[in-house]
Amino acid sequence: MEINTVHSVQKASYVSQNLTETFDSVNRAFSRQAKYFDESERNNIILADMRTQVRDHVMKYLKRGDYILELNAGTGLDAEYFVEQGFKVHATDLSDGMIQMLKQRIIHQNLSNSITFQQCSYTQLDQLNTSGFNYIFSNFGGLNCIKDLSQVTKFFSGVLKDRGFVTFVLMSKFCPWEFISVFKGNFSYAFRRFKKNGAIAHLEGEYFKTYYFTPKKVLKSFGKKFKLIKVEGLGVLIPPPVKENVPKQQPKFYKVLKYLDKKLRNHFPFNRWADHFIITLQYSME
Ligand SMILES: C[S@@+](CC[C@H](N)C(=O)[O-])C[C@H]1O[C@@H](n2cnc3c(N)ncnc32)[C@H](O)[C@@H]1O
Repeated sequence: MEINTVHSVQKASYVSQNLTETFDSVNRAFSRQAKYFDESERNNIILADMRTQVRDHVMKYLKRGDYILELNAGTGLDAEYFVEQGFKVHATDLSDGMIQMLKQRIIHQNLSNSITFQQCSYTQLDQLNTSGFNYIFSNFGGLNCIKDLSQVTKFFSGVLKDRGFVTFVLMSKFCPWEFISVFKGNFSYAFRRFKKNGAIAHLEGEYFKTYYFTPKKVLKSFGKKFKLIKVEGLGVLIPPPVKENVPKQQPKFYKVLKYLDKKLRNHFPFNRWADHFIITLQYSME
């Protein structure tokens, strides 16, 4: 496989006339973040633990030789991991900066035989230059930038093979760690995820809308041909990645939280009461 040339991103003003809802500001924000994205991940134990949990989840459903479509792939951390496990990946992202970092990763790690890439929004999957995937994967809330997930899932039956899997990792509506700030009187922070029309995210000097999901809402965005396989909480008791000092300053406390988190995260309601949740569905053509 060859590395694909970078496609120009269409201005996504069709999403909304409201400036905060276009992908232009999302592109600018993540492009700025791209330069230090991998480094901040390396220094953040919580983020690394969460990523390990996501990968372990996905590995349960992947089969030898599978071809993965990754949405909002960022700098390609997961794409590289899945290639190391023997899979092929078509990695997509909207952001100029992320695509640039992804391209550098492919060149420096000599991955062009197993990772291809394409700059495109997940709302433009009809423009993909390849198909026949066994798995569609989206990690760490890239899909929280869109209100209506059906604008993404509507393309899946056209590119996914029969019995293929989809795994989304999304920020949830109810995060216990955030909610406890209600006891400190910080009501706007505690309730921000419940806002019907999304909360304003501030990243790298840019403002854009972020939407929070329940597994039920995600399921609704898929047609009847997708069956729910598993919902798992990600960051139930362990703090969200912004609290990156907790494991460094209170390692024993973090270890206990991690142990209890593992016990709870597969059981209702903790499989959805978490910073993020991992949801996996399976596609059936009939
Ligand atoms: C928090 S980063 C996660 C990146 C990667 N999945 C990871 O786990 O490292 C979110 C990513 O979503 C991408 N993104 C946001 N909106 C997008 C869209 N409409 N289409 C494709 N990618 C998008 C951003 O460019 C960014 O790379």
